[in-house]
Amino acid sequence: MQEKLVKIREEALAKLNAADTAEALNEIRLAYLGKKGQLTEVLKGMRDVAPEDRPKVGEWVNSTRKAIEDKLAAVQKEIGEKALEVRLKAETVDVTLPAKLPRIGHRHPNTIALEELERVFIGMGYEVVEGPEVEYDYYNFEALNIPANHPAKDEQDTFYVNDKILLRTQTSPVQVRVMEKKKPPIRIVAPGRVFRADDVDATHSPSFHQVEGLVIDKNITFSDLKGTLAQFARELFGQDTKVKFRPHHFPFTEPSAEMDVSCFKCGGKGCRMCKGSGWIEILGCGMVHPKVLKMSGIDPEEYSGFAFGIGLERITLLKYEIDDMRLLYENDERFLKQF
Ligand code: DAH
Repeated sequence: MQEKLVKIREEALAKLNAADTAEALNEIRLAYLGKKGQLTEVLKGMRDVAPEDRPKVGEWVNSTRKAIEDKLAAVQKEIGEKALEVRLKAETVDVTLPAKLPRIGHRHPNTIALEELERVFIGMGYEVVEGPEVEYDYYNFEALNIPANHPAKDEQDTFYVNDKILLRTQTSPVQVRVMEKKKPPIRIVAPGRVFRADDVDATHSPSFHQVEGLVIDKNITFSDLKGTLAQFARELFGQDTKVKFRPHHFPFTEPSAEMDVSCFKCGGKGCRMCKGSGWIEILGCGMVHPKVLKMSGIDPEEYSGFAFGIGLERITLLKYEIDDMRLLYENDERFLKQF
């Protein structure tokens, strides 16, 4: 018995001396001290030992176990220290290196253009207001003199929540909401998101932005409209900018017009930017239709006013000479960080 134990001890210690990984250590531990290990087997044999010899044999077994356990702990410590040393060498941190700068985002080009536009109108005494993106058919169409079955509804097909509620196709409904609540004088701009059932291409998107403008007071005339919008164009595109009004039709204004600005790239000579014409269309406008005033509770005999609608993306694209609207929505940082 004693011989056997001495052999087990020598064998185990020799193996431990040679072991150099945690896995190898574990295997040795199982082979000698584990449930099916060699020492455990010896203990099982105790029942064949004469009762008077058992204390002595027990002592041998225990001292063998202790010797193996002590050696195991020592080798484990050694392996751990070696591994730590290797890791410390590999993971050296050079504290003298400069820190990485945090990446800070910045405003979207649409937001930059909008803030510039708002600044111009606030400077002229306008208030910035907002209306809901999910809107009643009444405000989006009916109250703007676009009754059911009006052909204008075709061009502004949208996403319907039900027969009465839709995603607004224009910011013009904000005009009605303001007129219903506020007594003239009214001077507001209303920026916001609008929706149309359009397919995506370089100049269209099912969701884009407009900025609505509305002025209502006594004795407001087309001259006020022209003067205001010409001033706006000069502030946004440069003091030499000229404006031109072309007759147009909108159901909620009469008379109506579209306004072009002289091309700020070529000064009106004609270039790629203005497609050779020297002019760039930037907004729709007109004198608020008496019917619209009446429906919103404003007496057209006492008050008159003008309105305009600007496509925000159009301004952004022109301002930064971007030729594809899709770039504004893709959130590609490499594109956005240029502005
Ligand atoms: N809401 C019009 C559109 O989406 C734009 C517009 C034109 C707004 C004339 C106006 C306006 O306020 O007077 O096409």
